[in-house]
Amino acid sequence: MSARIAFSLALLGSALLSSAAMSCSSKSNSTTTSSATCTPGADGSYVNGLYDSLSDYCMVDIENGQVRPLSERVVPYSLATPLFSDYAVKYRTVWTPPGQSAPYSATGQLDLPKGTIITKSFGFPIDPAAPDGAIRWVETRIMARGETGWLASSYLWNDAQTEATNQPGGKVIPLDITGTDGVKQHATYLVPSTTQCPKCHGQEPVKLLPIGTRADQLTGSMDYGHGPESQLTHWQTEGILTGVAADGTGPTPLPTWNDPNTGDVASRARAYLDANCAYCHSEHGEARTTGLFLAFTETDPLRLGICKAPVAAGRASTTNSFDVVPGKPDESILIHRVEATEASIAMPEIGRSTIHHEAATLLRQWVSGLPGTCPAGK
Ligand code: HEC
Ligand code: HEC
Repeated sequence: MSARIAFSLALLGSALLSSAAMSCSSKSNSTTTSSATCTPGADGSYVNGLYDSLSDYCMVDIENGQVRPLSERVVPYSLATPLFSDYAVKYRTVWTPPGQSAPYSATGQLDLPKGTIITKSFGFPIDPAAPDGAIRWVETRIMARGETGWLASSYLWNDAQTEATNQPGGKVIPLDITGTDGVKQHATYLVPSTTQCPKCHGQEPVKLLPIGTRADQLTGSMDYGHGPESQLTHWQTEGILTGVAADGTGPTPLPTWNDPNTGDVASRARAYLDANCAYCHSEHGEARTTGLFLAFTETDPLRLGICKAPVAAGRASTTNSFDVVPGKPDESILIHRVEATEASIAMPEIGRSTIHHEAATLLRQWVSGLPGTCPAGK
């Protein structure tokens, strides 16, 4: 499984690619906002309704094809195992109002304070031969903890990559993606509408909650300009967290799905299912009525889908009887749905239009290695 993928981006019927190349070469002349000229959070009124322009938050802008934070307390972070979104490159930041912090917690979502602003930017490398080079950024999603709960919306970047504008209605962007293995896939990349955020970010009865801001996802280190540093320690240094252990150690990290140094096939497959499925497939998530629960901590084989008949049969199940059949990936509905792109069959049911081949391979290996047999099915 290749850890790095290169992309060639051809935006069908859209000026996105050519304008992206232009904006890239003209980048050095662009005047981007700097930390000296804006105040993170501005007047704070976003807690009662999100701003129209991304620049109003003073969180991030784009310089030389890279998203960058606009102040030291706007802290970039990465996750042990992220969500797959059609091979998009992602950049995340977190910021809390000065003096406001969350208490460290080893389990569950961190309880980030009112006024917290989290950004998550999505882009695609302009040059497929240079996956680490300039990126055409498509959208930056914002979650802000408001007066009465979390607020969420996506901001669409202009062609010049100088401003992103609130796009509550979302957008579908067709593009072609090529892996380093040469495999081409056509994507219909989804910029979700504000009504779609709760499908994934909702935890009944709460409409919107962050998903990735959990200690076991944040145990990795990042270079903030002085060499690799524990993310949790850095969040504490910047006043976003309190109560982090002095040595920066957190809970047992969630394995990184594509790094064999972090766990065996089974634990990495389970980490992938946790990060990509469990926010819906959990007691309070969108798929709670299926009884298929895919959190990393789940131990009940039936709840994990092993020899579990799906609640709704039909096309999504083909002729197969169970979500997961030990030793038999080809007979497992879970694998079938991970490898599908057709609406109503594909899982996740939103936010993915291409097949994540590398992950499907890992999940197949996991199923192949599971012991036991299921009773005769339908
Ligand atoms: C397909 C499901 C899905 C949809 C739809 C979705 N998100 Fe997310 N989002 C996630 C997952 C999973 C994470 C955490 C993992 C990661 O960041 O890779 C996340 C992370 C985020 C983060 C970083 C904070 C956090 O929750 O960890 C922001 C900000 C965010 N999403 C905003 C939005 C907004 C705004 C929308 C709607 C316009 C939206 N998301 C729609 C699944 C989704
Ligand atoms: C955005 C929410 C969402 C996400 C994310 C999601 N699912 Fe689902 N899933 C559903 C819903 C809703 C159903 C029930 C309707 C259906 O079967 O299509 C379902 C049903 C299923 C079923 C049938 C389960 C049963 O026993 O009835 C399987 C298997 C499945 N999902 C696998 C996955 C896998 C694997 C992932 C992650 C790669 C995933 N899902 C991510 C919403 C989601």
